[in-house]
Amino acid sequence: MNLSDTPAQVLDGKALSERILDSLKEQVEAKRNAGLPAPGLATVLVGNDPASHVYVRNKRRACGKVGITTIHHELDEHIGQAALLELVQKLNNDPEVHGILVQLPLPKGGDYDENAVLAAIDPAKDADGFHPFNQGALMQGRKAPVPCTPKGIMSLLDECGLDLMGRHAVVVGRSNIVGKPIALLLLERHMTVTICHSRTRDLAAEVGRADIVVAAVGVPELVRGDWVKPGAVVLDVGINRNEEGKLVGDVEYHAAAQRAAWITPVPGGVGPMTIAMLLQNTFEAYAN
Ligand code: GUN
Repeated sequence: MNLSDTPAQVLDGKALSERILDSLKEQVEAKRNAGLPAPGLATVLVGNDPASHVYVRNKRRACGKVGITTIHHELDEHIGQAALLELVQKLNNDPEVHGILVQLPLPKGGDYDENAVLAAIDPAKDADGFHPFNQGALMQGRKAPVPCTPKGIMSLLDECGLDLMGRHAVVVGRSNIVGKPIALLLLERHMTVTICHSRTRDLAAEVGRADIVVAAVGVPELVRGDWVKPGAVVLDVGINRNEEGKLVGDVEYHAAAQRAAWITPVPGGVGPMTIAMLLQNTFEAYAN
């Protein structure tokens, strides 16, 4: 690993995601030229959460760029669990649907059970990699759809060209969507992995030991720049508004960039990679 205390190189997730989208576009075109139907991603959005609407719109836009058809279902927040499960079943049985995404969170206050909805999706069409079968496969190191944000983080990490074996990774955050699966993927690469969270006693000391830091807690600039070990790689999953309304990550970027060898910016780091990996998962489900 190239240890240095000069300002970090920026891991440009926007540029990498655009290269991945270009490659996917070519692969979709090749399938179409061979007379095959277009890949199809079903997107299901329940209720009026403004952030969820933005996320789904960005995902559908990216699909459009590469030639993946989106089959979009926008449901009233009161539709209820039974009707939602019925729709998932219909999408499972639709041959034009290769990937299914139910945007989370589901509305509060209804009878929704997110885990039951995720478990109802055909594991072979699980574009998000959230089905318990696929999460179990990840734990056992078997091939299966991998959640998009952790998969994108691994692609960014591979851009650094580092030998990860035996190095120490510290993951801050323990969500099912990011923290737990990224820890498993790093473990697959023979890293020593520590998972930290809100109850961790001395977060600064834990982060200070890390060759690789993944911050995924959703707390603006929680990871201070002077905690970062010189020469570390810092991957920031957070997208938060600070008190001045500015978009910031979970890492104090400018101070961390003085110490890290590589760092992802916010925005333009991990975020665009999540969408690219959703499209990649959809294409893989289609090609299989
Ligand atoms: N809500 C926040 N992130 C995600 C995601 O990656 N997939 C889905 N389905 N919902 C989310």
